Amino acid sequence: MTLTHDFDIRYERRHTDSQMYSLYPEDVLPMHLAETDFTTAQPVIDALARRVEQGMFGYAAESGGFGEAVRHWLDSRFRLSIESEWVEYSPSVGSSLFFAIQAFSQPGDRVLIQTPVYHAFHSLIDNSGRIKAENKLKLRGGRYEIDFEDLERQLANPRTKLMLLCNPHNPVGRCWTMEELARIAELCLRHDVFVVSDEVHGDLAYRSFTHTPLPAVSEEIAQRCMVTVNPSKTFNLAGMRASAAILPNKRRREAFRIALINHKAVDRPVFGTVALEAAYLHGGYYVDQLVPYIEDNARLVGQYLREHVPGLELIEPEATYLLWLDARGLGLPAEQLAPYFMREAKVAFRDGASCGNGEGFLRMSIGFPREVLERALRQIGQAASKL
Ligand SMILES: Cc1ncc(COP(=O)(O)O)c(C=O)c1O
Repeated sequence: MTLTHDFDIRYERRHTDSQMYSLYPEDVLPMHLAETDFTTAQPVIDALARRVEQGMFGYAAESGGFGEAVRHWLDSRFRLSIESEWVEYSPSVGSSLFFAIQAFSQPGDRVLIQTPVYHAFHSLIDNSGRIKAENKLKLRGGRYEIDFEDLERQLANPRTKLMLLCNPHNPVGRCWTMEELARIAELCLRHDVFVVSDEVHGDLAYRSFTHTPLPAVSEEIAQRCMVTVNPSKTFNLAGMRASAAILPNKRRREAFRIALINHKAVDRPVFGTVALEAAYLHGGYYVDQLVPYIEDNARLVGQYLREHVPGLELIEPEATYLLWLDARGLGLPAEQLAPYFMREAKVAFRDGASCGNGEGFLRMSIGFPREVLERALRQIGQAASKL
């Protein structure tokens, strides 16, 4: 029997130790963060409850079940065939990016990113003594595209050693195609640049699009890349601190593991691993129901903005519950956009400028029950009508 999940259910999360709900005053809807307002999948809750029953929470073993669960997920969801031994535990995708920068580049090396991009890509490079190289994504006809000429120029710089790829892309919502990924892979191989592919949003490709894990492109790039995944975004498990890094190349895997050990990050969290394994072994039904719900939410936002807020334009998403809104038509200075909606609509957005190359844009999470989203839209519409 297939389980069903009710994404319409609302829970009062204030005063529940939620970072998302503790940042702003009580009357503000926190739509700035990459976290949903949905309860996690029932098999995850059940597995955690069974583990609590043990009453023993000493250091956890490095069980083979972890790599096996990741292998199963990638195979069943994306037909990506990997070996469970290629999987390393890491506390989070952000941590994996940090360890990868330590393991695969030296201070002074250039690390390439495609902007606008998830803000931590910037800070992780800036704070590690590496030099940030930028391949700016181009907005053409309402859709972001890769400037491949510039990409090649950046990769050809002999000091560029690493590329952090966001696949699918936060915040512009692109689900990179096989053709685009093949061109990126070919250029990185030609210029000997290792790629870290952050695929934390890969589960959330919309039904007309396909998420392609980077190693699926070719055996050559599989040996020259690392993929990071985490059930955190999909299953609302960010507080569990258990994610996975997949490194098909043994030498690279060992280098990554040394970085983990050197930062005392190798010990696995008892509950996090239980949650990841349950999500990846038994959570397929949840994603099958979550994605259409998010697609409907995105459609609702697009329709509402077209009808009621002409200066705020949705960049059509192909994946994720993070929407990228072009607010340049509202006539407000870029730095006043997020504060204006916070004050007048009581909705918190992420300021696009924090993603680099995103001035005049706002990022909005739609991982909310429909009723909450409808309320937010009305508040946004009323605030915009005062401009
Ligand atoms: C692209 C991307 N990578 C990583 C993260 C953070 O994931 P984690 O909590 O596993 O570090 C986020 C969250 O916003 C994200 O959007």
